[in-house]
Amino acid sequence: MPKFPKLRSPAVLSPMSGVTDVAFRALAARYGAGLTYTEFTNGTAIMRGHAVVLKRIVTDPLEKPVAVQLFGNSVEDVIDAAKMIEHQFDVIDINCGCPAWKVIKTGSGSELLKSPDKISSFINKLASAVNKPVTVKIRIGIDDEHINALEVAKLAQDAGAAAIGIHGRTQAQGYSGTANWNIIKQVKEQIDIPVIGNGDVFTPEQFKHRLEQSGVDAIMIARGAIGNPFIFTQINQYLATGTYEKENRIEQFVEYAQIAQKYSLNFDMLKTQAMSFTKGIVGGAYLREKLTKCISAEELCKILTESIITCDCGVP
Ligand SMILES: Cc1cc2nc3c(=O)[nH]c(=O)nc-3n(C[C@H](O)[C@H](O)[C@H](O)COP(=O)(O)O)c2cc1C
Repeated sequence: MPKFPKLRSPAVLSPMSGVTDVAFRALAARYGAGLTYTEFTNGTAIMRGHAVVLKRIVTDPLEKPVAVQLFGNSVEDVIDAAKMIEHQFDVIDINCGCPAWKVIKTGSGSELLKSPDKISSFINKLASAVNKPVTVKIRIGIDDEHINALEVAKLAQDAGAAAIGIHGRTQAQGYSGTANWNIIKQVKEQIDIPVIGNGDVFTPEQFKHRLEQSGVDAIMIARGAIGNPFIFTQINQYLATGTYEKENRIEQFVEYAQIAQKYSLNFDMLKTQAMSFTKGIVGGAYLREKLTKCISAEELCKILTESIITCDCGVP
């Protein structure tokens, strides 16, 4: 079975629907993310050739290694899709963690945690069909009474998974409460494949603490990277030196916009990202008020570049 790639950094960009577009991922990789994931993508939609969906799985050369995250209630379609696109990716990941109703009502995402045998057979079939390492991203269980991360992780390992990502929340929790890193630690102690921990890591200090406390091989960052892909540089600096430089969100957005232009990402995406990159900065609320009224990339670019000294965002 192909092995999980060696990562240049243990800080990984977690898959995020509506956030981790190709430009955002490329920027995270440029800033030092050890691995990037596409947002979760339906295998059937790939097989049907939906243009919007195919655009989601375009990758940038900076993303090395890069994982595609697939889901779907048709295992056959996920396998066919994986076979079709595996040449573009270093890792094929299966989503067994999404708690959204529209996903779990079809029996996919975190709903699969109710049937660990199905996850096992899914991984087994997929790993036999492709030539790339297959991984799975799970939650720790369905609810507090049904925590089964260890059982699922052992089955995944036996079925041929090359690594496992674990978000320390249950399906029932959604995004509420806190991530349970003790369970992630227990899984790490009892299985041999790499474990990527996930949940509530927002700063380099928290990253280092969770890495040391749990012993995991890597940590996925999701919300902590929204509007701040520079967090990967900060984490790497902190792990190496104990300090890190402050980010400049507007400059980061300008870089994002340049890459987004290369991939012709649409204006709505640019605007959503602009709103995120300006959260938490001095004068951000004022900027966002102006951004809300923007109706074109030119206008958006002008507002943001006027707030910094140089204007070179590259948006036409
Ligand atoms: C906006 C958003 C979209 C997400 N989309 C996905 C997805 O496509 N696939 C997935 O496995 N997890 C997805 N997640 C979950 C995250 O990858 C991650 O597991 C979760 O947010 C916990 O990590 P954090 O505490 O670092 O945010 C998403 C989370 C957010 C906030």
